[in-house]
Amino acid sequence: MPTTADPFARPTPVDVAHHSHLTGVFAPQRTEISVDDLAVTGQIPADLHGAYLRNGPNPRFDPLGRYVYPLDGDGMVHRLTFREGRADYVNRFVRTPMVVEEEKVGHAIWPGVTDLWTPDADEVGPALAGTTRDLPDINIVRHGGRLLAMAESAPPYGLNPADLATLGRETCDGAMAVGSTAHPKLDPTTGELVLFNYLLEAPYLTWAVVAPDGTCSRPPTPVAGATQSLMIHDMALTPTYVVLFLCPLVFDIAAAMTGGSVLDWRPDAGTRIALIPRDGSPITWLDTDAFWVWHFANAFDGTDGTVVVDYVEWTYPGGFADVGQPATSRLVRATIDPATRDITRDARASHDIEFPRIDDRLSTSEHRWISTVGKVDDGPGPMNALRFFDMNTGADQLVAEPGLVYGEPIFLPGTKNEYWGAFTNDPRDGTSGFVILAADDLDHGPIAEIAMPQRVPAGLHGAWLAD
Ligand SMILES: [Fe+2]
Repeated sequence: MPTTADPFARPTPVDVAHHSHLTGVFAPQRTEISVDDLAVTGQIPADLHGAYLRNGPNPRFDPLGRYVYPLDGDGMVHRLTFREGRADYVNRFVRTPMVVEEEKVGHAIWPGVTDLWTPDADEVGPALAGTTRDLPDINIVRHGGRLLAMAESAPPYGLNPADLATLGRETCDGAMAVGSTAHPKLDPTTGELVLFNYLLEAPYLTWAVVAPDGTCSRPPTPVAGATQSLMIHDMALTPTYVVLFLCPLVFDIAAAMTGGSVLDWRPDAGTRIALIPRDGSPITWLDTDAFWVWHFANAFDGTDGTVVVDYVEWTYPGGFADVGQPATSRLVRATIDPATRDITRDARASHDIEFPRIDDRLSTSEHRWISTVGKVDDGPGPMNALRFFDMNTGADQLVAEPGLVYGEPIFLPGTKNEYWGAFTNDPRDGTSGFVILAADDLDHGPIAEIAMPQRVPAGLHGAWLAD
């Protein structure tokens, strides 16, 4: 991570033109539009009824200070609505109080999340003096009558499902009162939303549950045995357990206060795994060697009492540590035995991949297919392919149209057939699209390619919201 000599100094503008995550496919989109009946090549399936919403960092104004991807940027939600074989589009900023205040003056006031300078009351009024930028720019979750723009580790923002207008911070009846990470997990069997949050101070880690009706059924509960503040981006969920991987990416506030990196990779500490029984029973802890996880695909209870977890495993968190060689990733199936505290990690594929997704209806139960963004040729370069992994057969299918960069794939359940979809960007001409693939015929390539009416920057996570 970049450092600065004086982290408390008033931040200066970012050199936007030379920042890799503010240019090209990452260049922010500042225009909000609503366009119906988008142009399409091929045929949008007539049995697809619902909307795909996707969030991502998209600074409202050219940023100040350090701009650290994927932590910084204001949220922008893009929505593609499908009905009767046509697609409609709308995009809206997530308007935090910081964005609202900046829109009054027409430029950025707050710096990024790793900068320590904060504005005073003379500049932003007493209510916002001393605050840092809220960043609900990572994910979208619908649950309990709410539509939530999720932040990395903070309360989310509620959105109006009708027009995507920002409603304000949301605690979900207190379940997210101390915040939530961006990847809570919905249990389709119980209807519960299970979440965790990490904190800079004790108790360091909490978990909580939102009931199907949106009420809090488990308030933030400390994870006994958590002993330090770590960055933990995602969680896994089975019918029995909340599964947390505590990889050794440590928050070092003292270093940050003197201009160093706020996050420190300490592989000698290894990775700890917490199996947290959802019934509140004592937690089982396991220790293994150090690795890094951004995202889990899914987890489920094995028939023999084990816990099976599929995820993308990295050698270390590239961008947040420098170990002298490129970080590499692989698709791993971990089998964890709570009784013996043994863990086996089987590499199912070794590719540059991220954003693993499944058919979300199978969350917490055994799945067959995992989709990811990947590359035609592993190594440096953009994510120019989708890779699909059949966990039953070990087969690996690649989908790529030359020149395109792909976003997170999303499973699209039609009423008759099943599909996958993803946003695309074409760096050659700055256009964006959305491709739809038939799940049972990936080799066919897109059955529909929707031309987006304006550029949709490369972003992070989204959700399919069935009608
Ligand atoms: Fe994520």
